Amino acid sequence: MTHMHVAGAIHADAVSPAPIWLTRPDDVNELSPNLWSTGTRREPDGMMSIAGIRLDDIASQVGTPVYVIDKDDFVARARTWRDTFAPWEVYYAGKSFLTLEVVRWLEAEGLGLDVASGGELTVALLGGMDPARIGFHGNNKSTEELRLGLQAGVGCIIIDSADEITRLERLCRELGTTAKVLIRVTTGVEAHTHEYIATAHEDQKFGFSILGGQALVGMVRCFHSQHIELRGIHSHIGSQIFDTSAFEVAALRTLRLIAQFKEATGVELPHLGLGGGFGIAYTKADDPAPVAALAQGLKEIVAHECRAFGLSMPEVSIEPGRAICGPAGTAIYTVGTVKPVEIGGGQSRRYVAVDGGMSDNIRPALYAAEYSATLGNRRSAADPVLSRVVGKHCEGGDILVRDEFLPDDVQPGDLIAVPAAGAYSRAMASNYNMVTRPPVVAASHGRLQTLLRRETMDDLLRLDLGEREGIRE
Ligand SMILES: Cc1ncc(COP(=O)(O)O)c(C=O)c1O
Repeated sequence: MTHMHVAGAIHADAVSPAPIWLTRPDDVNELSPNLWSTGTRREPDGMMSIAGIRLDDIASQVGTPVYVIDKDDFVARARTWRDTFAPWEVYYAGKSFLTLEVVRWLEAEGLGLDVASGGELTVALLGGMDPARIGFHGNNKSTEELRLGLQAGVGCIIIDSADEITRLERLCRELGTTAKVLIRVTTGVEAHTHEYIATAHEDQKFGFSILGGQALVGMVRCFHSQHIELRGIHSHIGSQIFDTSAFEVAALRTLRLIAQFKEATGVELPHLGLGGGFGIAYTKADDPAPVAALAQGLKEIVAHECRAFGLSMPEVSIEPGRAICGPAGTAIYTVGTVKPVEIGGGQSRRYVAVDGGMSDNIRPALYAAEYSATLGNRRSAADPVLSRVVGKHCEGGDILVRDEFLPDDVQPGDLIAVPAAGAYSRAMASNYNMVTRPPVVAASHGRLQTLLRRETMDDLLRLDLGEREGIRE
């Protein structure tokens, strides 16, 4: 579902009040199990709870907005991916959400970690991740970032350009070391949710094109380098992918490339990285395949293509991010204002403004991502009304949940809970409008642990070196 927009539709799309996929709920208080973390409930008095902690307790302890990670849910998902895909290696995509404590959970569960910057690498190392289990991504890694990776001894650097090969060779020579690498390739497959384009043009910033021949050239160059150990190739085809069909084309194209490389050099590369992008349910309409079905399907696809190209089964790695941290996270906001807006044709939409917004979750504004929401602090007997949960920023596109049925009696002071909010929300947060970024707490067995504290105005002012003439209240 995309909303083509520059300054139009997202500000006022009064064409149809509700999307087709959104149906009026029989019970507006119901928590659909495919959306909420396993530890989320509605208590007998109507208050929601996560891992045994009531939302009003969370709000009074740490305030709102706040992101709550159901720790047991996160860890269970990490385990499920690890065990179901074994013997393939599972690297958690750190860009989706990463803190020192999260690194500790992953390390304890034996997952690998994929980082995409020197900053993420620093958190991974400080959190205690075994460097050998880190994959280092990035389309424009600086010399300093590469140096950090090499000195730390990361298990694999995923090379994204010819310039990076040059930079890496120079650094390896200087440091007297050898880098283990994968070449990131573009397969021409572009996948989003259940749709994919198998002949997508290659007009994008990531990787070496297979079609254009740059991938094979880059691989041969690394193969002949004294300072680089080429382990294989890597492809990442998109996000919110619900089944294996797009991977089928990606596997065919990557394994054909490995076969071509073997023909050219006599060497069969041992590793294939298939990336991440496995989808989750953000709304009741989303229906991602179970992990077991994905694992079985992907393994069959790779085995089939290997047979077809006369290759032995490579080591394979995957990089799920949102599939592990997304469903484990819930955002909690406090309602500040409620405004019915006439949208024509006798229809109206309820605008429910909360104390967060695009600064803590940019995804709806950035790519029209859909979310769900529910009234978190009580059960309501009122009728469901079509609502839009918006933030507090000076932007018409500052939308958190574009379309949802909320009870007619939602009022200032109520808590709104947004499920499946653990991925790419706090990780992509900004300080737009000088708003401080919210905390992230982990909930487990009735206890809260702060992973990231709330940012303060002092944190922000520390960066501003201008003269202070006025007096701060
Ligand atoms: C190279 C790579 N791997 C893995 C991921 C993780 O994707 P997801 O969180 O959708 O699984 C991404 C996301 O952009 C990525 O670029």
